[in-house]
Amino acid sequence: MLDQQISELASQAEARIAAARSAQELEPVRVEVLGRKGVLAQISKEMGKLAPEERARVGKLLNAAKQALEEALEAGKKRFEESALRDQLDAEWVDVTLPAPGPRPGSLHPVSQMQMEIEDLFVSLGFMVLDGPEVETEYHNFDALNIPPEHPARDAQDTFWLTGGHLLRTHTSPVQVRGMERFQPPLRMIAPGRVFRNESVDASHDHTFYQIEGMMIDRDVSVAHLLYFMKTLLSEVFRREVTVRLRPGFFPFVEPGFELDIQCLICGGTGCPVCKQSGWVELLPCGLVNPNVLRISGIDPEKWNGFAFGLGLTRLVMMRYGIDDIRLLQSGDLRFLEQF
Ligand code: PHE
Repeated sequence: MLDQQISELASQAEARIAAARSAQELEPVRVEVLGRKGVLAQISKEMGKLAPEERARVGKLLNAAKQALEEALEAGKKRFEESALRDQLDAEWVDVTLPAPGPRPGSLHPVSQMQMEIEDLFVSLGFMVLDGPEVETEYHNFDALNIPPEHPARDAQDTFWLTGGHLLRTHTSPVQVRGMERFQPPLRMIAPGRVFRNESVDASHDHTFYQIEGMMIDRDVSVAHLLYFMKTLLSEVFRREVTVRLRPGFFPFVEPGFELDIQCLICGGTGCPVCKQSGWVELLPCGLVNPNVLRISGIDPEKWNGFAFGLGLTRLVMMRYGIDDIRLLQSGDLRFLEQF
């Protein structure tokens, strides 16, 4: 009786082991059959009722069945472990022969690129490149440029005022003043830098943008000198000959003051939407340095005179690349920046 029970049990258990689809499904088989309260344990209890020689024989059978099942369970477990490992290796497979992605090369911001080009040009023409603080004194930003406190020109430059007579510079012109304070004429300098205006932001206005200030002080400087340097600058920037014209413009620190226009590079002067059909595009303000400005900074206007200009660097970059929204330049958007 027990013989048959043992062999049936063994074959049932073997079938369950063979049919298991995961290591988890093996565990209940082990508990039910081989466990401390499992079927084999029960059978071995019942063996006590048998005659001694019977008991020995059935005991052997029982042990053999137990060992066989233990081995089958062990083999089953191993099978699942191996296939799990194979799955994992397949999933995590890496082709080490593929080329590595490598570091993503960066590039200089288009404003920096243009700034460096213009610096190189002016250095080759004997100009120094000067730097000045972005937090300026009211004196350097306005008074010393012949813009006294009640002057209406102050309203034209929407200023971010700070405390203690300080402000965020509204233009790079204060660096002219610092240049004149530090160096004796003859003097040739440019001053690239960031400037700030308290105005609402839209496609053509930003609160922060870049200018390059330029100034030359020498003996008998004329508008012809100014024009020569401006034409050299612009043909370098646009990489072709440009035609320029001067219109009167008002800035308290220059006299006479001009707005310099270039003939439209899109239509060549015949009229198009970019130049609003006029054939000309307003590009940069400039003029001969007002004698008051020289005098304020301790330079004798009877002996020296000069020209100054204020280049809108941000605007120039927009023109060169046809960028129609100024906000892109400070956006930090990689989709934009990667194009340069
Ligand atoms: N500083 C002036 C501005 O930003 C520009 C300028 C510079 C005009 C030098 C004339 C001469 O508005």
